[in-house]
Amino acid sequence: MNHFPLEPIEKASVDELRALQLKRLQATLRHAYQNSPVYRRKFDEAGVHPDDCKSLSDLAKFPFTTKKDLRDSYPFGMFAVPREKCARIHASSGTTGKPTVVGYTLKDIDTWATVVARSIRASGARPGDLVHVSYGYGLFTGGLGAHYGAEKLGLTVVPFGGGQTERQVQLIQDFRPDIIMVTPSYMLAIADEFQRQGIDPRESSLRIGIFGAEPWTNDMRLAIEHRMRIDAVDIYGLSEVMGPGVANECVETKDGPTIWEDHFYPEIINPETGEPVADGEMGELVFTSLTKEALPIIRYRTRDLTRLLPGTARTMRRMEKITGRSDDMMIVRGVNVFPTQIEELILKRPELTAHYQCVLTRENHMDCLTVAVETRPGLSPDSIEARAAAELLRHEIKVYVGSSVEVSLQPEGGVERSQGKAKRVVDLRKH
Ligand code: DLL
Repeated sequence: MNHFPLEPIEKASVDELRALQLKRLQATLRHAYQNSPVYRRKFDEAGVHPDDCKSLSDLAKFPFTTKKDLRDSYPFGMFAVPREKCARIHASSGTTGKPTVVGYTLKDIDTWATVVARSIRASGARPGDLVHVSYGYGLFTGGLGAHYGAEKLGLTVVPFGGGQTERQVQLIQDFRPDIIMVTPSYMLAIADEFQRQGIDPRESSLRIGIFGAEPWTNDMRLAIEHRMRIDAVDIYGLSEVMGPGVANECVETKDGPTIWEDHFYPEIINPETGEPVADGEMGELVFTSLTKEALPIIRYRTRDLTRLLPGTARTMRRMEKITGRSDDMMIVRGVNVFPTQIEELILKRPELTAHYQCVLTRENHMDCLTVAVETRPGLSPDSIEARAAAELLRHEIKVYVGSSVEVSLQPEGGVERSQGKAKRVVDLRKH
């Protein structure tokens, strides 16, 4: 056999799926209300009770959960099981102050491994594959999340983690993995290292890359697929909801991550009013967990902007590739700009690379956006060719995004490299 069979729920009808979701949603609301004092208080204050949820649309009556709720109950205050019942704790570091802490029972870990296994299978894994994991291990959910999923699917895992780029390349050459799981920005750094060592990355053993943890465009997908000669698929997730594997693209369609709706119920809301919008409309993604024990999450506001799309490769709905986070949105002289919009335009220019950063400053009370971007290896930033590309980029950003920017060309290595999530926005404005 050269493929893995799907789980029955992946082939269930929409009606079957909705019935399962409602049953699980009602149980989750009851569990949260009965066992987490924070949820009980929030529901009471909003005047709602788990019994008020008679249909999936009744979920809209329940209050949202935000990062602030988790921070205010730091570290374990929102858990719905005693801490001793948790098998593991993860945390995501925020930009300020304390991290957001999440917990998992053994059953939660198993559920998580199941959805990541499903994700890896949807990405095109075959029995016998070797998986090289370059997401960071530790408090970050990327490494261990990917790891348990790959093991659950029955594959062989190399738990490399982030960093030591030179050795990553060496072990990829020596162990000959079929699949790599890494942030798209770090994949590019690894590809550069291949070339630095005089090895064509297209000749590596890799067949599939499962990329996520940060926004990346379809143009970036094409660039990576071409450079590495692999299939590049998108994995989405966040610690508050579980970790990686909340949604994953199916390799046969590559049309946005399929949400594993039997475990995570999605809504899209208008971020200003909080009102749910119809499928197909853009807004902020909100998730409710349907099977979690330690930290049930009710209507968590992700800050990620996208829309819900009908299922294609599966019955479950998809989300459009994330455009950006509301936190990453730059407002430059009144114009809203996302780094991904700039990325698309950069990738159109063969003279430039996808190593870029958006730097915000304030001069004479005016916001200034400078796009720092590296030129192609071997092409001097001072060359006429590079300067013409910069001018074209500046022009296109003005025309397509609506913002006047400066372009600062950098030589190879001139833009800060990440070994995990890329930092696309550097805000040097004084507030
Ligand atoms: O980044 C979990 C993860 C690890 C996902 C590895 C995929 C692969 P957090 O650190 O809590 O968790 O960050 C979650 O990262 O709200 C999005 O803004 C962003 N993000 C995650 N995956 C994607 C993706 C992990 N595929 C936050 N596309 C989320 C765009 C993503 N943004």
